[in-house]
Amino acid sequence: MSEIQRDAIRAMRRSYGEVGLESLPTDPFAAFHQWLTEAAANDFIVEANAMVLSTLGTDRQGADAITTRTVLLKDVSEGGFTFFTNYGSRKAQAIELNAQVTLLFPWYAMERQVSISGFAEKISRAESDDYFATRPWGSQIGAWASAQSAPLATREELEQRYQGAAEKWPEGSVVPCPPHWGGYRVTPIAIEFWQGRYSRLHDRLRYERSNTTSDWEVGRYYP
Ligand SMILES: Cc1cc2nc3c(=O)[nH]c(=O)nc-3n(C[C@H](O)[C@H](O)[C@H](O)COP(=O)(O)O)c2cc1C
Repeated sequence: MSEIQRDAIRAMRRSYGEVGLESLPTDPFAAFHQWLTEAAANDFIVEANAMVLSTLGTDRQGADAITTRTVLLKDVSEGGFTFFTNYGSRKAQAIELNAQVTLLFPWYAMERQVSISGFAEKISRAESDDYFATRPWGSQIGAWASAQSAPLATREELEQRYQGAAEKWPEGSVVPCPPHWGGYRVTPIAIEFWQGRYSRLHDRLRYERSNTTSDWEVGRYYP
């Protein structure tokens, strides 16, 4: 297969829509719910609840200074955005050191993105247990098998760990939530809604507050 050429990359250009962002609810969570509902109903958006999580790491200038990855939004409640992961993972270690994170929902098919800045904290064990119990058996076993983000010598090693956990908790049995697995809730201090417009005159509405309990202020920004 031939490589894509520079001119082809440069020619990747779409003009964005006429539909503007004139009014959104004054509460950014209501606005987010509205956009998530629309994204979930859009057949061109795969995994509308997928979001890109960025963290500041341990390493001041190395490969782990800033890291980023996709995680799935599983709840929006109690003033925050919840995802689930391994508490020993690289992202969890980063959050341990610096709880401030960003989240980004890239809904390209709707010419929209939502970017969020906030603080991550672990949810309660009971909340994580409750959600874990709703996961498919294979995913539950996978959570026991994976030492997420640790070096893995061979694929076989992972498969063996999976088999070991599957023998311990056969399909149909209750799989307990691993202590190293659970949720984080990100409480925002800024939420920005971006809507693509014609001639790159996009709309940007940004809700901001000085801390996680103060009132929101909303402003419009140059695209
Ligand atoms: C669509 C998609 C959804 C994902 N969802 C999750 C998730 O909900 N939780 C998770 O821990 N990893 C998820 N991952 C894997 C992460 O992107 C990442 O590879 C993993 O969490 C390890 O990240 P870390 O080493 O930076 O901690 C997902 C990946 C993709 C592509």
